[in-house]
Amino acid sequence: MAGLQEKVSKRRTFAIISHPDAGKTTITEQLLLFSGAIRSAGTVKAKGKGKDFATSDWMEIEKQRGISITSSVMQVDYDGLQINILDTPGHEDFSEDTYRTLMAVDAAVMVVGTGKGIEPQTKKLFEVVSRRGIPIFTFMNKLDRDGRSPLELVDELEEVLGIDAYPMNWPLGMGSGLLGLYDLYNKRLELRGADREHDEFIPLDEEGEAVGDYEFKSSSLYQQGIEDAMLLHEAGNEFDLDKIKKGRLTPVFFGSALTGFGVKTFLDAFVDLASAPDSHELMNGEILEPTDERFSGFVFKIQANMNPKHRDRIAFVRICSGQFDKGMEVTLDRTGKTMRLAHTTQFMADSREEVQSAVAGDIIGLFDTGNFQIGDSIYTGNREIEFKPLPQFTPELFMKVSPKNVMKQKSFHKGMEQLVQEGAIQLYKTYHSQEYILGAVGQLQFEIFQHRLLNEYNAEVEMTPMGHRIARWIDEEDLDTSMSSSRNLLATDRYGQPVILFENTFAENWFKDKYPDVTLHQLM
Ligand code: G4P
Repeated sequence: MAGLQEKVSKRRTFAIISHPDAGKTTITEQLLLFSGAIRSAGTVKAKGKGKDFATSDWMEIEKQRGISITSSVMQVDYDGLQINILDTPGHEDFSEDTYRTLMAVDAAVMVVGTGKGIEPQTKKLFEVVSRRGIPIFTFMNKLDRDGRSPLELVDELEEVLGIDAYPMNWPLGMGSGLLGLYDLYNKRLELRGADREHDEFIPLDEEGEAVGDYEFKSSSLYQQGIEDAMLLHEAGNEFDLDKIKKGRLTPVFFGSALTGFGVKTFLDAFVDLASAPDSHELMNGEILEPTDERFSGFVFKIQANMNPKHRDRIAFVRICSGQFDKGMEVTLDRTGKTMRLAHTTQFMADSREEVQSAVAGDIIGLFDTGNFQIGDSIYTGNREIEFKPLPQFTPELFMKVSPKNVMKQKSFHKGMEQLVQEGAIQLYKTYHSQEYILGAVGQLQFEIFQHRLLNEYNAEVEMTPMGHRIARWIDEEDLDTSMSSSRNLLATDRYGQPVILFENTFAENWFKDKYPDVTLHQLM
């Protein structure tokens, strides 16, 4: 198909992963500023206020708005490329959807605050991304503030996350004493410019010294900074694009999202080094190229409407090959049914538009009346295209659940079955007493579950929190019913597989000592 290859090569589809408050929103906003999609800072923040609300407020907002797609996907033009940013909510909105979104991107940007370093949520998200073997770029943020030393931050990154790091630039000072960024990759010194969009650049000579007479060159900050950077480049990891593409080496950039310093340098290198959409391996072993002219994609997220008056949902599809054109007919692999995709939506920085066409790498939202499930494959043409199933993620939070009204058992069971199938939440049963237990990676999943069960299935539920548990699967042949205790509760998942919910690592270790021959497995 003429032009498809060119279009696909211009796509950069990624997610920003970070711990809340590291600066994800601020850097997204910078990207929108540099791309010209918004004109002033503060826009995203004001619009994305949802993340600052408590979950009950969040639901209120969802109700008022109907389907909320505020920041699920944003598409912007940057430097002749089309960039798709997928949101990975933090705070109270953290859920399995966050993990699943990471299955639909081709690269990740990890934002780390220089004050705090690697925090728990970053580590979790990193682990999910890392298993996919896609490029991960690190932005060390908040350089305008005094933070931890750059060497310490890079060391921690390598140690805690187990990935090699390659500093693309190196800060000369920090906070109010910040002189600039020593950029060996671009062979230049980057200084604060007159405005946020135009930093000043001084080229470096053969010896790595800034060309020209500058007063700062005699400062110890400059001298020491260069010495550190040189040392790091001699003793540290080598720049290796192949390792970057496979996610085994993370290029590290320093900067300040708030002031915009170093952001453009980062973005330019990112779009340059990050991969365009790649091929996918199908269930039958076939390798599907993004430029294959058969359109195909998979559903990675279903956003249900919180408003009971509007039962519609949006199924988010990652296009993996070919081109989508409005009104085209596709086959849903799971059912073999064909359907016309007439109502679709694409996501811009400031609006939501009906999509006319999109190509591999893009995300489209399909209005859904209950046809789709998470992980579904859709395609055109006569040859079946079935993507590999999305992984299941190990839940960390658990809740006992039962119907409040025994007369409504039927609607309770129906609702639960459908919501579990949809991937909204995971379901377990205690081995001995067959009580229902829900598992989630974020608190919000419980609240949405409860809310939807009431509004869509008219079933009120009793929920008893069990708190954090460590879920580990065991092989059926290892099952011994006396393994269960209050500290390590034996349960089965919805496929009947035995799983132990440990109260804490202490209980897990105790179990390992007691049953050394039993292998404990975890999901992704
Ligand atoms: P998040 O999406 O990762 O949760 O973080 P967000 O961008 O909302 O940033 C969290 C806080 O950190 C915000 O301050 C933001 O202004 C600040 N911040 C982000 N980048 C930088 C930076 O480079 N330098 C400095 N000094 N601060 C930065 P806040 O006070 O919580 O919010 P607001 O009152 O400014 O809106």
